[in-house]
Amino acid sequence: TTATTVKELIDTTTLSSIPSDYIFDGFEADSAVQDQIPTIDFSLLTSGDPLQRSDAVRDLGRACEDWGFFMVVNHGVPERLCEAMLEACRDFFDLPEEEKNGYSGKHVLDPIRCGTSFNPAVEKVRSWRDYIKVFVHPHFHSPEKPPGFREVSSEYVTRIREVVKELLKGVCESLGLESNYMEKALEMDEAGLQILIGNLYPPCPQPHLAMGLTPHSDHGLLTVLIQNGINGLQVRHDDKWVQVRHLPGSLLVNIGDHLEIISNGKYKSVLHRVVVNETTMRISIAVAHGPSMDTVVTPAPRLVEGENRRPAYRGMRYGDFLEYQQSNQLNGKSVLDLI
Ligand code: SIN
Ligand code: FE2
Repeated sequence: TTATTVKELIDTTTLSSIPSDYIFDGFEADSAVQDQIPTIDFSLLTSGDPLQRSDAVRDLGRACEDWGFFMVVNHGVPERLCEAMLEACRDFFDLPEEEKNGYSGKHVLDPIRCGTSFNPAVEKVRSWRDYIKVFVHPHFHSPEKPPGFREVSSEYVTRIREVVKELLKGVCESLGLESNYMEKALEMDEAGLQILIGNLYPPCPQPHLAMGLTPHSDHGLLTVLIQNGINGLQVRHDDKWVQVRHLPGSLLVNIGDHLEIISNGKYKSVLHRVVVNETTMRISIAVAHGPSMDTVVTPAPRLVEGENRRPAYRGMRYGDFLEYQQSNQLNGKSVLDLI
């Protein structure tokens, strides 16, 4: 079936209720609680002051261990660039459906792909979400339209990659590894996969029946997210869903499956989901960072040395992991469970 996007659905019809293929039974949109999500001051990580840095590394390690999710402030990525990236994404979604269709319905690992829900071909229920996914490293891709998308996304993902590189150094140190362990072992600079994902969640007439995105973990090492000021993301913490109240200007960062693998389970990838609302369009931009497609990531040797410590994961070629996750329903941490 050709998937109609949610945007097309709400643009072309007057809906007072949602079509039945968007109805999730009993996901309890209201069950989420408020809690204080950790904040990491990026400028302390990079200040050059060893004491400040060791404090920041300790905080980063705690955030990774306790939450798998944190907000990064003082990161140095210009506010206007984040705004421009959100704007470019909105402009992409506003293109005529025929133009967007040029990027849809192909292989899950195609460098530019847009669509709706997660994977309508295999899903019983659709998510209230449209998306565009673009591979931006090691080879940079961009849709030709809208004008400016290429320039803005190129600058944005470069700046985000720099932040992630520093965060990963801190994460390595917090695990007792050489600060450049991941960069080297995974050849991040030369071959690390970086994917830009624009998400559109149009207003939904029955937000309590629909989901923006079903619970899942991300496949890579770290994902960095910004949004257009509208909340909706929830993360799993202490067996509860916690509403993320985004601190304006901060970057939302979460741990993916491959960081869980490298850390031998010390840092767990965090489950998250998206709820929708009745009045306001939400746009988010996630940038996922992983190893190269051909890397088989296994736990860092230093973390499995010694008595009573063994690798808790076997590892799988990253490209295969990705393809497997993307070809199936989005379902918790189901791929990680395989290895
Ligand atoms: C995602 O999990 O990829 C998207 C999260 C969000 O839109 O907040
Ligand atoms: Fe995600």
